[in-house]
Amino acid sequence: MNFHILTLFPDMVMHGLSTSIIGRATANGLLTIEAVNIRDYTTDKHKKVDDYPYGGGAGMLMQAQPVYDAWKSVADKVGGHPRTVYLSPQGATFDQSMAKEMAKEENMIFLCGHYEGVDERVLEEIVTDYVSIGDYVLTGGELPAMVMVDAISRMVPGVLTNDDSGTMESFEGNLLEYPQYSRPEEWRNRSVPKVLLSGNQKNIRAWRKEQSIKRTKEWRPDLYERYERLQKCSEVLKKQKLLHISMTELIDRGQAELVFSEGGTICLKDMVSGIYFLTAENEKSGMAALTCLKDHAPQIGFLTLHQDFMVEPTKEALGLKDFMTCYQAVYTRKEKLPVTGLYRLDEVPGKDANQKEMPKIRRLTLEEMDLVVANYDSMDDPDYIKDRIEKGWMYGAFLDHELVGFAGMHQECSIGMLDVLPRYRERKIGKALVTYMANLFLERGYTPFGQVEINNEASKRLQASLGFVFSKQPIFFLNREDKQEF
Ligand code: ADE
Repeated sequence: MNFHILTLFPDMVMHGLSTSIIGRATANGLLTIEAVNIRDYTTDKHKKVDDYPYGGGAGMLMQAQPVYDAWKSVADKVGGHPRTVYLSPQGATFDQSMAKEMAKEENMIFLCGHYEGVDERVLEEIVTDYVSIGDYVLTGGELPAMVMVDAISRMVPGVLTNDDSGTMESFEGNLLEYPQYSRPEEWRNRSVPKVLLSGNQKNIRAWRKEQSIKRTKEWRPDLYERYERLQKCSEVLKKQKLLHISMTELIDRGQAELVFSEGGTICLKDMVSGIYFLTAENEKSGMAALTCLKDHAPQIGFLTLHQDFMVEPTKEALGLKDFMTCYQAVYTRKEKLPVTGLYRLDEVPGKDANQKEMPKIRRLTLEEMDLVVANYDSMDDPDYIKDRIEKGWMYGAFLDHELVGFAGMHQECSIGMLDVLPRYRERKIGKALVTYMANLFLERGYTPFGQVEINNEASKRLQASLGFVFSKQPIFFLNREDKQEF
């Protein structure tokens, strides 16, 4: 991603963004940051860039000509009309979801104002987004631009590595972070909470969640209210536990945004994948939800329905098509699945019951991405696979160091992307991969679940043999006409 910052103080911006994680990402070629000095573009012989406002008033204004020419130099270089942010306390307030959305751009221009502002005519001509970083007034747009570049960069794939954050795969969702402690165990008579020294991951997870809830309630009542509303929805959804597993897991993992709720009719948006999920108590309230969803229509690429009576009305109201019907498959027990005879737990070679070599399963790296993309029949979106590998959620089965099958966790938290190379089928490698993923989910305190297409008997048999249970009713995947299927 390329950032272009139009400023009168290029050194300030470049100094602030050349160290630490952003500096490393720039050195690695994941980002480029250039500061364009607006003063270099003035046609005034005294290098002046500001003048008095017409009609009088305090202070000086930045003039249209140098700002426009500086902007045009970037626009001509990168082509088209790039997303252009004007930093202003009057803009929309910057937040995490805006950072995430902007991280998808190839090029972004930031215009840093100074003095009393900028001539309105050039803003009208070039600006696509007016953004404020909070309700206070700074002396210029440089610090806000740096704040935005930092927050957006973190969302660019590859910028954060596993070393930077242990919470890479956990979403910064509806609750605040729990408190953390490092060595020594005792400092100025203050001890590390005992539970953290216990090694019992289940208790540690429960304690952390409790602390997060407590903090959010005390420090951010606004966020807590949102959290509570989602918890109420979760209780309603759990009345049909298997059918609604995708929705309740999104809530449990803190990545659900509540779009609509009226009794048992609930619509959630997954903040990670952008997928919408709708369950309707009856046709009437289902229609009310659809009316609300029409406002979101252009954003809705994928939507999952939980009742057949909603399929036709939703297609019509939102301009979507249905492309897949599945049952939910859920592993409801808490004990891990047995692994003997399925895969090796270390480098020691091992044979299965038929004296065939057993696979070794490990996390995939970007080096294996092309192999996955080439062999995964059901989806050919390399960026999605790349994202899953980078987040540490794609696993491969290897025989003699050769990748023979893979599985992963989708952005919306289900087990999927399962495939075994044709000549290695019938060797329980699919079973080994699903077992591995299910056990990984249990270790992290998640409920293992996925979807099986209604006519895929082989997949149903496999999941059933592992103890997965299926929803009685199917769920329906809809997508936009022009979107590829997955
Ligand atoms: N310029 C001055 N104050 C600002 C703020 N709070 N956010 C964005 N730009 C600004």
